[in-house]
Amino acid sequence: KKNLPVLFVIFGGSGDLAHRKLYPALFNLFRKGALQENFAVVGTARRPWSDDYFQETVQQAIVENVNAVDRDLVDQFSRHFFYQSHDVTDENHYIELNNKIEQLESQFKTQGNRTFYLAMSPQFFGTISQHLKAQNLVTDTGYNRLVVEKPFGHDLESAKVLNQQIGDSFAEKDVYRIDHYLGKQMIQNIMYLRLTNPLFDSIWDSEHIQNVQVTLAESLGVENRGGYYETAGALRDMVQNHIFQIASQVAMKKPVSLTSTDIHQAKQEVLNSIQMYDADDVNRFFVRGQYAGNDSENSYREEEQVSPESTVETFVAGKLLFKAGPLQNVPFYIRTGKKLAQKTTRVDLVLKSSHDLFEQNQDNVISIEIDPENKLTVTLNGKQLSQTDLSSLQMKFAYTKDEVAQIPDAYEKLFYDFLIGDRTNFVHWHEVKTTWDFIDRIEKTWQEDAQPPFAYQNGSMGPNEVSRIFEGTTDSWVFKG
Ligand code: BG6
Repeated sequence: KKNLPVLFVIFGGSGDLAHRKLYPALFNLFRKGALQENFAVVGTARRPWSDDYFQETVQQAIVENVNAVDRDLVDQFSRHFFYQSHDVTDENHYIELNNKIEQLESQFKTQGNRTFYLAMSPQFFGTISQHLKAQNLVTDTGYNRLVVEKPFGHDLESAKVLNQQIGDSFAEKDVYRIDHYLGKQMIQNIMYLRLTNPLFDSIWDSEHIQNVQVTLAESLGVENRGGYYETAGALRDMVQNHIFQIASQVAMKKPVSLTSTDIHQAKQEVLNSIQMYDADDVNRFFVRGQYAGNDSENSYREEEQVSPESTVETFVAGKLLFKAGPLQNVPFYIRTGKKLAQKTTRVDLVLKSSHDLFEQNQDNVISIEIDPENKLTVTLNGKQLSQTDLSSLQMKFAYTKDEVAQIPDAYEKLFYDFLIGDRTNFVHWHEVKTTWDFIDRIEKTWQEDAQPPFAYQNGSMGPNEVSRIFEGTTDSWVFKG
């Protein structure tokens, strides 16, 4: 669709996320024509910037983060940006903001469509959405949408409070909770692959699949986000959202149709069925770790804004079991961490062996690589050339470099989706609720536990104790690092 009329208010307009991800995403949509003359952006933050200065920072964001840009187009784009210094707790500032919005709405003819984007500390999400309603920034003309960045709460309780506050001002259908993993092409591809190929569709069940492995490994450490990370840890930062979103797409039953409602229905059903753990289960099925540094690299505790005694986990591995859906009772082994062997985001489905005719037998594995490559690999058994032994064969499909270069960034994809009102790739409240419920039980057990996370070597795949999650099985990781 072309020239979608909209006025954005970006709270946190001077921030890092806006600079690195949001402005580049908007620029790409502008370049492709989804946004044209009828769009305007008001960036807000506390500091007193002029429109001119703000436009310069937007131009800089594009030049730094987007390849091969045409300077004239960047200038033209930046003229859609305006700045309002704003204290999120001050009522009068919302009134001033509304005046500015109204003026820009008539200047850019945005048809009353308003999108409020919260790209700042989540502690203000509730306050902002309440003021938007109270000071009448949520109107009856056009649409009024709220886009919120993660984290959505810190635990179930805080997520509920937040949801209530947002719900007082915006209907659930107008709330777009971002999980940028849902904008990744290979994650979206999971559904296409599993639902449209008899080859996969017919084995996507507990009779054929031995286990599923979800790996979100990063080679970077916490970088300059130590302050935030101290309040989160790997479990809240990556498992509650990204890992559960991926796992539920793998584990859900076939949706009745491809509408957002039916897909979310299927996801919710499987999430509702997750086996909740008591303290014993947590100790058996979850392992946490913290990177220990080496001669040339910091340990987590040496990072900026991190307590020297921190017991926050930078790695977590665990086992999930869903009690419904085609993969009921199939172990889902999950892991994520910082400072691991390499950046890799992947899902491996290990198939059960179907015969006992040959002595050796490799598992059949379907591997979906999401990052840094966009690749599908199926590991099969076949005949070794000139011999009678079995050997392992790999069938690979990878998008070409050129194709990958054309892939829109996850943010661009998600921006387009909320501009056209498609909620498929956004997180619904019930998903947030169920996943926090699960996570809270683990956090609680860990808090009561005197033992800190296990140390692991930078550049490894986590602490040795991880193998504990395979207890009672012959399973092991497909990706060994
Ligand atoms: C974010 C986490 O949600 O995802 C970060 O807060 C993490 O800690 C990032 O680094 C990873 O995203 P990606 O797209 O690089 O895999």
